[in-house]
Amino acid sequence: PKARLTLDPHFTVGPVNRRLFGSFVEHLGRSVYDGIYEPGHASADAEGFRQDVIELVRELGVSAIRYPGGNFVSGFRWEDSVGPRSERPRRLDLAWHSTETNEVGLHEFSSWLEKVGSELMLAVNLGTRGTAEALELLEYSNISSGTTLSEQRIANGATDAFGVRMWCLGNEMDGPWQLGHRSADDYGKLAAQTARAMRQLDPELELVVCGSSSAQMPTFGSWERTVLEHAYDDVDYISCHAYYEEKGGDLGSFLASSVDMDRFIDAVIATADHVKAVRGSDKTINISFDEWNVWYLERYKADDKITGIDNWPIAPRLLEDAYSVADAVVFGSLLISLLKHADRVTSASLAQLVNVIAPIMTEPGGPSWRQTTFFPFAVTSRLARGSVLTPRLESERYDTAQYGTVPLIDAVATHDEESGETSVFLVNRSQDAPATVTIDVSALGAALLVSAQTLSDDDVTATNTLDDRERVGLADNDTVVVAGGEVTVTLPPVSWTAIALA
Ligand code: AHR
Repeated sequence: PKARLTLDPHFTVGPVNRRLFGSFVEHLGRSVYDGIYEPGHASADAEGFRQDVIELVRELGVSAIRYPGGNFVSGFRWEDSVGPRSERPRRLDLAWHSTETNEVGLHEFSSWLEKVGSELMLAVNLGTRGTAEALELLEYSNISSGTTLSEQRIANGATDAFGVRMWCLGNEMDGPWQLGHRSADDYGKLAAQTARAMRQLDPELELVVCGSSSAQMPTFGSWERTVLEHAYDDVDYISCHAYYEEKGGDLGSFLASSVDMDRFIDAVIATADHVKAVRGSDKTINISFDEWNVWYLERYKADDKITGIDNWPIAPRLLEDAYSVADAVVFGSLLISLLKHADRVTSASLAQLVNVIAPIMTEPGGPSWRQTTFFPFAVTSRLARGSVLTPRLESERYDTAQYGTVPLIDAVATHDEESGETSVFLVNRSQDAPATVTIDVSALGAALLVSAQTLSDDDVTATNTLDDRERVGLADNDTVVVAGGEVTVTLPPVSWTAIALA
């Protein structure tokens, strides 16, 4: 296949927001316990956090981290997770059929965030709880001193307020699996009321109202409309969640997952703007894409769910998907989709970070390693700078069973006016042929190649595992030629590539 990409710094989608490179740590499986936290591990610091994991999270380049769930948050009592550890209760986590020991809570997590250099994004429980408890958590977190809850925080060891700016008003409240699942009307009212109350306490907050759990939900579209009819004036973002997996061996459709993500985002923007028009509002609601990834959800539903009235394990192995080369290529194109919508998707969280559908894996008492998906995230987070250029791409196309006829090449570029640096991210969806892409950079002035790296493999099912931790990685792409205002590159079949130009 062949494709042509034209870059022009005069035409931009919007700024690259660092918040696009957020992630998510949920009390789920071995994400926290035996993931970021393992006191007995050789690399554990004085607080019990694995320093090898801290280093990998830093290398990944993660901005805000959403916490503590996910489905978990809809049954979570935040007070359980603060105060002397020996007095913290053990609770049933109904979402994941596990026992939550509360050994790691708000204070420990916020201390870990300082070590990894990321910002806290908190979710409140609007499943089994409501406005009053959200206000209490906000007071505990953001009031400096002088009230019962802020003084309690200080007594518990945090002299400075946590100063949390981004808050999620519950999680996936449209999902029948969610504790406290509600109709769009009921949730919209509760979210609006909670948002107003929270802003009365702290007007600087940025608030995310729950959109649909996926574009496949039966209420998708009408859920967003109804919720925003109630909460439009009180929130800043509506959330999107999307997970993709290869189904029935249809790799062609799977590789086109970002086409679906593009359509999903466009539909949510259209719905939010419809509510804006009806209200005659001059405020624009943006998207917090606060759960996205490849996730073999069908496998989890069929094989991994924990059941039994006497079976509530602590930190069980759950959702530990091992990602293949093909998964990482799809993952890279999901990042391309987020960047293409940088004007309206201004925050995003990769779900999740460690062990649970994660780019970073750990073995208790053993090593940690990078999954295949680690590489597109780390490189995109590092190289995407300045503004996203309006994508002008002509590409050959192919037919898919799920999404119709789609481009074989997916691409986006960013340009930083100050440093003059340009980065191009490309995916070849062809399963059998290399692609030649010509990038017209004449409008950028002189362009010099800084680096070009590709993720691909003859075996697209190859993964990194405990026994073979570096099986898949990035390789220099030495096919790049820069000449006469054009860059040409050859992309192997089923591959993801990043090119840095200066
Ligand atoms: O990320 C795993 C789960 O996916 C989250 O807990 C939930 O919000 C979503 O359904």
